[in-house]
Amino acid sequence: MSFVINTPEGTRDRLFAECTDRRKVQNTLTDLFAKRGYTEISTPEVEFYDLFVQSGNPLPQESFFKIVDRSGKIMVMRPDCTAPIARVAATKLKAVPLPQRLYYNETVFRSGQAHKGGSSEIAQCGVELIGAAGQQADVEVIALAVEALKETSPHPFHIELGHVGLFRALAAEMDLGAVQTEQMRLLIEGKHFAALNDLLEPYKDKPAYAMLSRLSQLFGSTEVLDEAEALVGKREEVEYLRTLYAALEEKGCGRFVRFDLGLVHQIDYYTGVVFRGYVEGAGAPVLSGGRYDNLVEKFGRPAPAIGFAVDADAVAACLSQQQAPTEHRLRIALTKGRLQEQSVELFEAMGLDCSPIRDPGRRLIHSVPNYNLDAVLAKAPDVITYVEHGVCDMGIVGKDTILEKGSSFYEVLDLGFGRCRFALAVKEGSDFYGTYKTRRIATKYPEVARTFFENKGMDVEIIKIEGSVELAPILDLADAIVDIVETGATLRENGLVPIEDVAQVSARLIVNTASMKLYKTEILDFLSKCELELKKRHD
Ligand code: PRP
Repeated sequence: MSFVINTPEGTRDRLFAECTDRRKVQNTLTDLFAKRGYTEISTPEVEFYDLFVQSGNPLPQESFFKIVDRSGKIMVMRPDCTAPIARVAATKLKAVPLPQRLYYNETVFRSGQAHKGGSSEIAQCGVELIGAAGQQADVEVIALAVEALKETSPHPFHIELGHVGLFRALAAEMDLGAVQTEQMRLLIEGKHFAALNDLLEPYKDKPAYAMLSRLSQLFGSTEVLDEAEALVGKREEVEYLRTLYAALEEKGCGRFVRFDLGLVHQIDYYTGVVFRGYVEGAGAPVLSGGRYDNLVEKFGRPAPAIGFAVDADAVAACLSQQQAPTEHRLRIALTKGRLQEQSVELFEAMGLDCSPIRDPGRRLIHSVPNYNLDAVLAKAPDVITYVEHGVCDMGIVGKDTILEKGSSFYEVLDLGFGRCRFALAVKEGSDFYGTYKTRRIATKYPEVARTFFENKGMDVEIIKIEGSVELAPILDLADAIVDIVETGATLRENGLVPIEDVAQVSARLIVNTASMKLYKTEILDFLSKCELELKKRHD
């Protein structure tokens, strides 16, 4: 009798061209790294869990594949190559003089969220330059990153540079306290332009305000360094990026280099310059790296270091794509229904001819005749999926869906329409908090409910309901619901009352992270038209 066993989610069989394309990218990269004086190193695929946790690895621990060995020790499938290489450099290679130039061609394993279409096995080729501080080392590694993409990418690409020291220094000057500083960092990282302004508004008098409130928008060519200087005068980190750029220019890399002063991810891990590589046609960065001067020391040998990794599969996927179009047509995903209607009203006020979207028939993609824009009509969670994967550059979706699905895109604008709120509601007269029993919550939004109660330190049992959630407490299936409330009529007519607000909701304009960098002018132009129109409405 035959049986059926498929591959686990996040893994897949690779056949024929997929193998040869990946091999081609890997061979090109490893040949290049060897030519530049780097030596190959290979570490185990399984390492102790403690290695990554104690070394301060910035990846979320829930993304580790864990294994328990025979003695009960917790191991992980290597989620990253840098920590194991730092371990080797500080221990086995202790007697070898610094600097050490090491490269690797390995698979890393990261467990992604279910049904996100991501891969749990990532083929990484990268370098680590250990024991070298200063600009010369940074130039060497960033120029190698440029070469790596030049030799493997079939499409235009660029490397963008940032500096984590800049945010650290500015944040310290603001003196906002740990919680607000982290809030501000998240808003800058996610390019929540408007929300960042709101958060910083009360601190307008502080000298660092002007720069911090602009930080997430300071990305592009060298003009962003000039703007930064105009905002806060000469800053060590900005000057550093300027001289780094000049040195890279001398090496012929200047035209591939841009900046994003809002690169503020993993600031506890990185210590100086950080960088990412973008290739047209790939919906996410294909290369990422930075300076991490504190890691090797954790294994007992103080040594500054810098390195990067290329996602060989992501680059290989570009090889099979047709030539990148010379002129990019922006694509926006609109949430079908009420938000679609309000988005169209906004677009028309901006002067866009939306007649094809107003009369869509059964077609799902529509070209705006008088603007460089195609509109895709999709359900709310799918808007996020299309934007995350980069098949749509932008999307309009409710904050409710963003809170539920998580966000790995830029949330650039609160559009102000589609306003409602998440609330906790119970049957009228019931005392939700006055009991020790574990409460059962019915909701269409289990993640929102989980986060809400986790923040309260309250254990609850969450039960997912697909629609008309109000039925669950009425039928005594649940003690309360967490749901969208707009007018409150549904609650009232069913004998329920809201007892607490969970979050405010409105429509947001979201942008794919790679699209924002690759089509900056077009996207910012569209964004400023939206902002202008919203401002008119507000006035
Ligand atoms: C939403 C929400 C509430 C209702 C709130 O449901 O889940 O049930 O609207 O609106 P109100 O406060 O104006 O009464 P939706 O209409 O999307 O239907 P569903 O519950 O079947 O998903």
